[in-house]
Amino acid sequence: MKKESNNVLDYPKKFFWGASISAYQVEGNNHNQWTVWELENAKVRAAQSEYQLANYSNWGQIKLEARDPRNYVSGVLADHYNKYLDDFDLLEKMNMNAFRFSVEWSRIEPKEGAWNVAAIKHYKEYVDELSRRGIEPIMTLFHFTLPVWFVEKGGFEKRSNVKYFTRFAKKIVSELGRRVKFIITINEPEIYTIEGYHLGNWPPALDNNFKCWRVANNLAFAHIQASKSIHKLSRRYKVSISKNSKYYRSDGALLSRLSAFIMQYIQDDYFIKKVVKYCDFIGVNYYFSSNVHGSKAHDSEDHVSDIGWGMQPSDIQCVLERLHNKYNLPIIITENGLADVNDDNRRWWISKTLIGIHKAMKNGVKVQGYLHWSLIDNFEWAYGKWPRFGLASVDYKTGERKLRPSAIWYGRIIKKIREL
Ligand code: BGC
Repeated sequence: MKKESNNVLDYPKKFFWGASISAYQVEGNNHNQWTVWELENAKVRAAQSEYQLANYSNWGQIKLEARDPRNYVSGVLADHYNKYLDDFDLLEKMNMNAFRFSVEWSRIEPKEGAWNVAAIKHYKEYVDELSRRGIEPIMTLFHFTLPVWFVEKGGFEKRSNVKYFTRFAKKIVSELGRRVKFIITINEPEIYTIEGYHLGNWPPALDNNFKCWRVANNLAFAHIQASKSIHKLSRRYKVSISKNSKYYRSDGALLSRLSAFIMQYIQDDYFIKKVVKYCDFIGVNYYFSSNVHGSKAHDSEDHVSDIGWGMQPSDIQCVLERLHNKYNLPIIITENGLADVNDDNRRWWISKTLIGIHKAMKNGVKVQGYLHWSLIDNFEWAYGKWPRFGLASVDYKTGERKLRPSAIWYGRIIKKIREL
């Protein structure tokens, strides 16, 4: 790293400064198992919102949207599928040089074994455009949404279905691979399994611990198979998962330390250990930490974002150092951010995060990039449209995007750091 000047942190020249999105959350007009589920559940979710969210301090501000069934139906959203050029302009305005997105399997293979040539062409143009602008594409293959036909076959509940995912991975990487080097096979495998198979908040909305465990193991197998196939195409690809990590901070008592150790193991290591031999780097998504007292973990409740998540951005340093010490692989932060409609905390969050990353790097962690979640406001799964994670706001009526003040500030910071 080079010398710091004028209080600007020094980062390596080749560092990826970027933002993330996923197809279903921004593209609009997709049709997959989420679409089916959200249509069936929108009314119930709207009716239950008061019960679930009324103790949020911002309930007054969100209640109109949260009580409206339309909030839970994705629909056109930001129409990123058609307006991606506008969104790439935002990346450039913020002086970014990397972008994480996902390709939507249900568009590319709408029926089993039938490739949609127009969708593949679309994504080719998409990555070409990123390259033309000097922005490194970081492509995710599975970000929580699956084609209906795949789910009807049993989805990831059946190990024998993994071959369909591998075939898709091979196909899309062969088609787009000329322009793409960094590939995330699976986004947050354990969040997908816990939300869908244990908490029942997401499709298939089950509370079945056996299936939860089986799907998690099948996802590990899916990563291994996809990673092997992609590397067979070429060794130049850098493949990983995006692992959601949270930091368990114990109060120091013996029982708390032991509990924190076990919780951290279940959170991170159970899955990572299965796949790490097939990862060229580790993709990390960090949002919040937990305090462990005795045998219980407590998420902080005093300083929270719009969706009630405790805000401890500095803890990213602990997450990075732990993963580095255990696995010694380069790390890309593939997601990190907060829901903050009034943009009250985003600037503070980003500065604390950048300081945390920088400290970790000084301590030897090989961080290759920081991708903020997210570039634009998006569909926040079971919460629907009201949480606003975007560096740019989106007016869902007009489609207008506008960089939030924190994003304008952040763009200037990136410029200064890159010019150092
Ligand atoms: C997911 C994103 C989501 C974000 C904020 C991550 O768990 O990958 O899809 O929008 O967190 O909740």
